[in-house]
Amino acid sequence: MTRHFLRDDDLSPAEQAEVLDLALRLKADRFAERPLEGPRTVAVFFDKTSTRTRISFSVGITDLGGSPLIISSADSQLGGKESVADTARVLERMVDAIVWRTFAQSGLEEMAAGTTVPVVNALSDDFHPCQLLADLLTVKERFGDLAGRTLAYVGDGANNMAHSYLLAGVTAGMHVRIGSPADYPPRADIVDDARRIAATTGGSVLVTTNPHEAAAEADVVVTDTWISMGQEAEKAERIAEFAGYGVDDALMAEASEEAIFLHCLPAYRGYEVEASVIDGPQSVVWDEAENRLHAQKALLVWLLAQNATAPTATAP
Ligand code: CP
Ligand code: NVA
Repeated sequence: MTRHFLRDDDLSPAEQAEVLDLALRLKADRFAERPLEGPRTVAVFFDKTSTRTRISFSVGITDLGGSPLIISSADSQLGGKESVADTARVLERMVDAIVWRTFAQSGLEEMAAGTTVPVVNALSDDFHPCQLLADLLTVKERFGDLAGRTLAYVGDGANNMAHSYLLAGVTAGMHVRIGSPADYPPRADIVDDARRIAATTGGSVLVTTNPHEAAAEADVVVTDTWISMGQEAEKAERIAEFAGYGVDDALMAEASEEAIFLHCLPAYRGYEVEASVIDGPQSVVWDEAENRLHAQKALLVWLLAQNATAPTATAP
């Protein structure tokens, strides 16, 4: 069975730790692994805009010896014109991995089901698991061990980042708290999955409508835009509904004295975060952005190695 990375819990706790350790090694020695030498090609599709994901995959695939093929949906047959299943079958004949930023998680699942090469979720409406590898790497760099640390996410509890913090955080053994308005809670099935994983790793999950309860003594405070890609029409309504859920100096003061601030970026100062926080001494958002490169390289190295050693369905 081909291994894919469609959601954060596609990596077991041990596998996530392995990828993060490899990311640290690749950060220290950028060209230590060259599994794509040839060059072999990785196709990277974008149905939504991107700066960090596009550049970090492009640079990372090149660092690994490979050739990145960056494709915007407007330039391809994918996205209404040709089925995902047909695209998947064509791609596996030519590329070594598929990375895709899209809307529906079901599209990624269909792609993965239809191809023999690894498929990586570069952000969907439901999850942003590559971002979480970078975020966990950033926390690890600051605190060493992840297990037992408390991460407070304040803001839109129903978006891809909140869901990924839940799954990836508890996989790392962290205590994940989501503080969001009552009308924007994380999806119940994802909370259930996170609680199941937490029971095996020593982590925990708290979902609250009180941002202060979430942030109290937290080691990591994090937020994300109130208006995710695809939600632009709801802008005015969302800004009104998220009032009181921004991260400011007062909220940071309720966290641990050593707390760090994370944001996947792009950030909207004056809305989900005040400039004094994101541009202040507790913010590690630029390390976090750089870590996209190292974390995704590690993920690709790991996935390619898994799929090289895994027995194929047709093997005797
Ligand atoms: N954080 C993140 O995914 O950024 P981009 O949208 O710029 O890729
Ligand atoms: N929640 C945001 C993340 C951007 C990287 C979005 O989906 O637009």
